[in-house]
Amino acid sequence: VFIILTTAHDPLTVNVGFSILAGITTWSAIPALSEIFVKAGLKGMDLSKRTKHIIPESMGMVAGLIYLVTMFVFIPFPFMKWFTGSNDGDLQELKLLTFPNLKLAELLSALLSIQSMVFLGFADDVLDIRWRFKMPLPAIASIPLLMVYWVHLGVTHIVVPIPLRPILGQLIDLGVLYYVYMGMVAIFCTHSINIMAGINGVEVGQSLVIACSIAINDMIFLQSASSGAPAIETHLFSLYFILPFIGVSLGLLIHNWYPSKVFIGDTYCYFAGMTFAVVGILAHYSKTLLLFFIPQIFNFLLSAPQLFRLVPCPRHRVPRYNRQTNLMEPSRVVLDEEDDLDIEFSNSKQDSKVGSRQSAPGRSASSAFLSSAGATAQDADDSHMKPSSSAVGEGSNLPSTTTLLQDFRPFKDSKLKRSGWYCIKLLEALGLTHVRYDAKTGKRPLEMTNLTILNLILLKAGPMSERNLTISVMVVQFCCSLVAFVIRHRLVAFVYDV
Ligand code: UD1
Ligand code: MG
Repeated sequence: VFIILTTAHDPLTVNVGFSILAGITTWSAIPALSEIFVKAGLKGMDLSKRTKHIIPESMGMVAGLIYLVTMFVFIPFPFMKWFTGSNDGDLQELKLLTFPNLKLAELLSALLSIQSMVFLGFADDVLDIRWRFKMPLPAIASIPLLMVYWVHLGVTHIVVPIPLRPILGQLIDLGVLYYVYMGMVAIFCTHSINIMAGINGVEVGQSLVIACSIAINDMIFLQSASSGAPAIETHLFSLYFILPFIGVSLGLLIHNWYPSKVFIGDTYCYFAGMTFAVVGILAHYSKTLLLFFIPQIFNFLLSAPQLFRLVPCPRHRVPRYNRQTNLMEPSRVVLDEEDDLDIEFSNSKQDSKVGSRQSAPGRSASSAFLSSAGATAQDADDSHMKPSSSAVGEGSNLPSTTTLLQDFRPFKDSKLKRSGWYCIKLLEALGLTHVRYDAKTGKRPLEMTNLTILNLILLKAGPMSERNLTISVMVVQFCCSLVAFVIRHRLVAFVYDV
């Protein structure tokens, strides 16, 4: 690192050296600071371990601070040629007249936005801020950035895909709506990482895959762009921000990987999300950025019924840890109470009722998920949830369209909101959740698996260890990045002139 820093002539090489240094510093600082965090009350319980583990929380603060210090020290390097090279005072003055003030403003506003989110994340870790208050804050934190964007780039039009051009024309100017869109990108990037969380290493793991995808995308552009092209500046800018982020994230992941010795806290989630939003906005590739967020977009859409309280949302939606098997299983949320009569009814009529309920319309799909999820022993004992192979496989037992529609009609005794009912039914039909119904009528939903991508992976692939679940998420994220690259660099030719 010392050799890189002393011999480097271009800012990118210096940035690489700083990134390695930042990574090593993060890796070595975390164990040294862990005890201080615990003493200050910044600690959390690992929900998915046999023994109750209390470990330091908010270690994203260490990564965030080291990142910010690295970037502060790096600020002069991209502007070095304006400071050096001439001892002639007049020439130097002339040079300063061409100084790219707006580039410096971009850099500073980006750091201000990231710093604000590190601060907000830490406040959230300490104060547990309510969702309704913290939800819009990333958009507010991005105002300095949007202001510089307005002065410098000011581009508010989008290029219309070729097939739609006969109707909409070549460009659409979104005006102020473009700024609203960018504010939403900042909100989405920060919160989407925070809600795909809760198992060792998953937040940093997914962020690292996204960051590496952004860096590779930048390098592809830098390789292919002709010298002097404006895209070079913006993609270099993006790399300056992403490489140190990769450095500190790697340093943090070593300690956060299963079995975690530290938690990263909301601080890291917000820090990571805002860093991505900043490069997406200022390097002007927010659409490509969103392609790298395909799993997060899916997780957000899947979570929406719980986030917007159409169905209950418990404090933690992380998968359930099974102490007996040491494996993770889909966690469930209670939708309605199971009354005594229900349980009695279920016990006494178990044998006779099971057959008819299993082949009841609309039940077959959910039963199939349970079987593929490798239901828990306790679940398997719930005979009304047993999979019905006959109902799934045989055409004669398939429900008719009329009966399926009847099944969608809200059940009058259910405590669910009408909108919540339709959501559950739709998600169940799509195989995205498993719903358990009351034993008596087989129609009143009692509980369902929480609506997150982590629970969905477990529902489809069966129980697995916490470490394998994190690896699965990273593999999904990696595959989605490959799809994003194919869309961005191959399929794009069909819809845009490139
Ligand atoms: C978000 C999720 C919540 C999830 C939580 C896990 C939504 C709306 N909220 O809430 O469902 O349960 O993140 O981070 O989707 N923890 C572990 N192991 C880990 C990481 C965290 O057990 O590897 C636990 C620890 O007890 C830690 C706590 O999660 O203290 C942190 O939760 P926090 O970040 O405060 O939750 P939220 O972001 O509010
Ligand atoms: Mg969190």
